[in-house]
Amino acid sequence: METEKKQTREIETPTNITIKGILGLIMENIEASEGGDSKKVISLGMGDPTAYSCFHSPALAQQAVSDTLSSYKFNGYSPTVGLPQTRKAIADYLSRDLPEKVSADDVYVTAGCTQAIETALSILAYPGANILLPRPGFPIYALCAAFRHLEVRYYDLLPEKGWEVDLNAVESLADQNTIAVVIINPGNPCGNVYSYQHLKEIAETANKLKLIVIADEVYGHLAFGTNPFVPMGVFGSIAPVLTLGSLSKRWLVPGWRLGWLVINDPNGTIKTPKFVERIKKYCDICGGPATFIQAAVPRIIQQTEEVFFKKTINMLKGTSDICCEKIKEIPCLTCTHKPQGSMAVMVKLNLSLLRDISDDIDFCFKLAKEESVIILPGLAVGLKNWLRITFAAEPSSLEEALGRVKSFCQRHSYQENGHC
Ligand SMILES: Cc1ncc(COP(=O)(O)O)c(C=O)c1O
Repeated sequence: METEKKQTREIETPTNITIKGILGLIMENIEASEGGDSKKVISLGMGDPTAYSCFHSPALAQQAVSDTLSSYKFNGYSPTVGLPQTRKAIADYLSRDLPEKVSADDVYVTAGCTQAIETALSILAYPGANILLPRPGFPIYALCAAFRHLEVRYYDLLPEKGWEVDLNAVESLADQNTIAVVIINPGNPCGNVYSYQHLKEIAETANKLKLIVIADEVYGHLAFGTNPFVPMGVFGSIAPVLTLGSLSKRWLVPGWRLGWLVINDPNGTIKTPKFVERIKKYCDICGGPATFIQAAVPRIIQQTEEVFFKKTINMLKGTSDICCEKIKEIPCLTCTHKPQGSMAVMVKLNLSLLRDISDDIDFCFKLAKEESVIILPGLAVGLKNWLRITFAAEPSSLEEALGRVKSFCQRHSYQENGHC
């Protein structure tokens, strides 16, 4: 009896919603209902721009990987913290924007930013600890915390203040067992880019509360609004920062699984020998990304031309503008804050204008079934009755998809012409 009970407990899996999980269900729903005259499926659900040919990785990056692979020099294991030249290239890249440089030893190479998240949460977790996460946010944090039995406390992002962190909430949520506060900048799912001043205030709050800041900068440099991208590491001397990032978004290679966790702690507040030992041990478990991909990183970082980055930024600015303009034509959707960065925006759903839609989940399932357009329900990122729209798409597909959303909303409005 005792044994049976124990086994049942051991196979329990966290019940958190994941983006992939919910999009998978929506997709199944389309497939189940597909008839002969079905429309082409357009997904504005996933943050993977490579589905569209206008978001192409630089040719140089392909060449660099192809060269390291065919050299036969990188078929072996790499050190689990990453190849020395890869760590150095990432340290030099990040140091360009920092007042106090990070060294190669501060960099741990991970399998995408996802593994950097997992590493950060795993090395910080202890029984009874908690972590502060943004709402809306990126659900992998809560899922990872659940696996590590780390209590999650959500602070709100404030839509009326450009999705800034509610610092009062951070102060009231934190206690002596709070290990860190997570920020995502540029933001997913909101498309916000924090000002220098706001980031400084976050660092000062963290300092007051003795928290580490985990700065998810997977969308680093993908900023096209008024605020330039400022890395949180700039404030590492106010509060210790663990910067998480990857090649995935800026270089448009999410499938290459090349990320990093970097310690920005010039005062040595957390970077004790014990802490470093703990990260290294954890890296021994993870193993990190393929050696030949790591070996290509120095060339990819050093030789990618500015024009490639500018092209992506211009493209994202253009598609975010299309997205906002099209949303303005749909009465039941409101874009409360124009995106300034990343690849996604949160849009508010006014259900009182819709006749037969019960919530954001119902909206997305019916939309997929009727119009073959996939959008992420806000609930998946923590905000019920909002939608997350990814605008990293071919302009023509985006226009087509949002045109279909408009028809869908008109059909489901109290007045069919959409003037509610
Ligand atoms: C906020 C955020 N963090 C981390 C990740 C994971 O990044 P990677 O694909 O490099 O693992 C993503 C991916 O979309 C993300 O949006």
